[in-house]
Amino acid sequence: MFSWWTSGSESEALQVLIDKYDTETGGEVSNAAVSGGGGANARQALATRLQGGDPPDSWQLHPDQDLFAAVADGSVADITSTFEDNGWVDVIPQDVLDMLAVDGKYYAVPVNAHRGNVLWTSPSVLEENGITWDDSTTPDQFMADAKTLSDAGVTPVCLGDKDVFAASQLLETLIMGRVGGDGWNSLFSGDLSFDDADVKSAVEDYVDLVDMANEDHSALTWDQAAVMVGEGDCAANLMGDWAYGELLNKGFVENEDFGYVTMPGTSEVFDYVGDAFVKPAENAPNAEGEDAWLSLLLDPTVQADFNLKKGSTPIRTDVPLDDFPPYQKGAANDFRSKQIVSSLAHFQVAPAEFAQAYADAVTALNGDGNVDSFLESMTAAQSSLLG
Ligand code: BGC
Repeated sequence: MFSWWTSGSESEALQVLIDKYDTETGGEVSNAAVSGGGGANARQALATRLQGGDPPDSWQLHPDQDLFAAVADGSVADITSTFEDNGWVDVIPQDVLDMLAVDGKYYAVPVNAHRGNVLWTSPSVLEENGITWDDSTTPDQFMADAKTLSDAGVTPVCLGDKDVFAASQLLETLIMGRVGGDGWNSLFSGDLSFDDADVKSAVEDYVDLVDMANEDHSALTWDQAAVMVGEGDCAANLMGDWAYGELLNKGFVENEDFGYVTMPGTSEVFDYVGDAFVKPAENAPNAEGEDAWLSLLLDPTVQADFNLKKGSTPIRTDVPLDDFPPYQKGAANDFRSKQIVSSLAHFQVAPAEFAQAYADAVTALNGDGNVDSFLESMTAAQSSLLG
């Protein structure tokens, strides 16, 4: 079983699935996780295995374009009958079903909805500096506050972008804050150019925030940066709500050691990052085990236990949320009521070549801070790769 879940909370969440498999089948899961947040290392290792005709029995990927590429290259099996036998189409939101199917056939089992546009905040740091952020905070106000914090010697946004997705995701949410959910979607339909003035402002904000970030940001992983918030070493960290799972896993207490607010300008948007599992189209090492594995992922109890550890929203809409902590109740509610958009940093909303061009452009931007050159690269990528 192949994934990139290796942080404290990710491993514990994965263990829920593994334990369930062991109990149900009497079998044993071999955990082939490859470390590296956001899965860039895992993606490479997986490609090598698939090319060599040595697929795992099941692997993690994202719904939407990440899955569609795997369907197009023939590596994942059609599991429509598993969907039908289990009645899953009735309990999974339509937006998500659309990101799992090609020509009416299903290819992946979704396990959760992570929200990508959350700022995890330090209540004590904000209070000491007289700053309040809520759903009505504008991007301009946020940037002014960041400057105030930095001038006072406080790191406004700490970052852990050893794995580039953390930087790409920070910029993604800043762009969403300036262009909105519809504007975000227009970037991928080609109706909005990357050299739009609002996109440019967001990229300028990004460069300013990275300038004010912790100096060791490129040496830290996402979970190390999340812990900095819990310890009050910075005012905020932008990260998907896997950071919620991680903060709880590290013993931090919600609304005491850390708080949260959506990235300013994005309160009406749910930046969806989903995890899903597939099985190989051929060379299956253990076909029977694969079906047992895929089926247990959407067992209602597993959904609750897994997502409680992972920090995400259960993908089944019929899982009771009474035992979930406040953040997750709110996120689940938002998942059902806000505009769902799909993440670029996580290779969902656009084909891999475009998502990779974005990751590379962010890496270059981190090195040279050159906003115009970033916008040129992205505009060029937009016209050559989005068709
Ligand atoms: C996945 C999350 C994971 C995060 C950090 C994202 O791509 O969707 O499940 O926790 O990466 O590794």
